[in-house]
Amino acid sequence: GNGVDMELRAPICCILGHVDAGKTKLLDCIRQSNVQGGEAGGITQQIGATYLPVENIRERTSLKAEVTIKVPGLLVIDTPGHQSFSNMRLRGSILCDIAVVVVDITRGLEKQTMESLDLLKHRNVRFIVALNKVDQLYGWKTCINAPIAKALKNQTDDVQREFKWRVTEVITQLMEKGFNAALYYENKKLKQVVNIVPTSAVSGEGNPDLLLLLVRWVPKIMMERLTYVNTVECTVLEVNEDKDFGTTIDVVLINGALRNGDRIVVCTKQGPVTTNIRYLLTPPMKELKVKGVYTHHEELKAAQGMKIAVRGLQHAMAGTSLIVVKPGDDMERAEAAAVQE
Ligand code: GTP
Ligand code: NA
Ligand code: MG
Repeated sequence: GNGVDMELRAPICCILGHVDAGKTKLLDCIRQSNVQGGEAGGITQQIGATYLPVENIRERTSLKAEVTIKVPGLLVIDTPGHQSFSNMRLRGSILCDIAVVVVDITRGLEKQTMESLDLLKHRNVRFIVALNKVDQLYGWKTCINAPIAKALKNQTDDVQREFKWRVTEVITQLMEKGFNAALYYENKKLKQVVNIVPTSAVSGEGNPDLLLLLVRWVPKIMMERLTYVNTVECTVLEVNEDKDFGTTIDVVLINGALRNGDRIVVCTKQGPVTTNIRYLLTPPMKELKVKGVYTHHEELKAAQGMKIAVRGLQHAMAGTSLIVVKPGDDMERAEAAAVQE
């Protein structure tokens, strides 16, 4: 480049995988929350976005002050693994810059893991495999939140042997799906070969490794894609009725900024509807699924998940684009763009 750093936006990371692989738990572990424990039957039924600011990630990974991170944070999108929610997995995969496919190390690749891999291959989305539940290997010694190399050093030969053959098995399964994969710390071809990161969502081993791959390696391989541009790119995740705010839509802002009062066009079952943003909100813990006291904003910049209070969008369609219109804009064109998706 010319020495001038472009402003980067937060990468959008979608978590995919078979039911109960530990997607939500992994996210809970990263943000120190307990969303998973509050889910009915422990089953995720929604797509949810969580913003992790870079300071938070630095703290979690004990990153030295001199190490720079070029992105302001990470936007993580949790999806359900249950077979009936393939539409939400599809929506997540369309939105994201990078995916994390969570695989239970004790079970290997399962039905919805395969489906997720097919989806990512089809859409050409880069991904990392989180080989989760390493703490379930027989005899595993817990090393809370330790980098995976350190945690593995602490294990007996038996545990290390079991770990090795299970990793090899998953690598073989991935190969059969057409993917070359390797443990990320043994991976010499970071660009061509899929990175595997062993993790535990219960005791946190490998979580620093996963976070660092997401905020350091991902921007490196997709700098251009993550460059912030001032053009709004925004997708509707879901529509809700809120007792305080009336109709709200949860959206993911991929690029650009939204302002309170902005005039927007959104596709509904009755066609495109033009309305104004009444409130621009972020939820507690910056996780869209968590109810509580919302923070009001005058402006929010990408990439970010947010709740927007609007009139007339009861029938807004999930998965479609939100278009911002300015005075003098060609309304027909804006409406066409909203309906296109
Ligand atoms: P769906 O959203 O329903 O597809 O499941 P999920 O992939 O989000 O899995 P979830 O986070 O709900 O975890 C499923 C179960 O596995 C829960 O009982 C978790 O406590 C448990 N679990 C998740 N990760 C780990 C892990 O790393 N180690 C252990 N021992 N248990 C885990
Ligand atoms: Na679950
Ligand atoms: Mg879940």
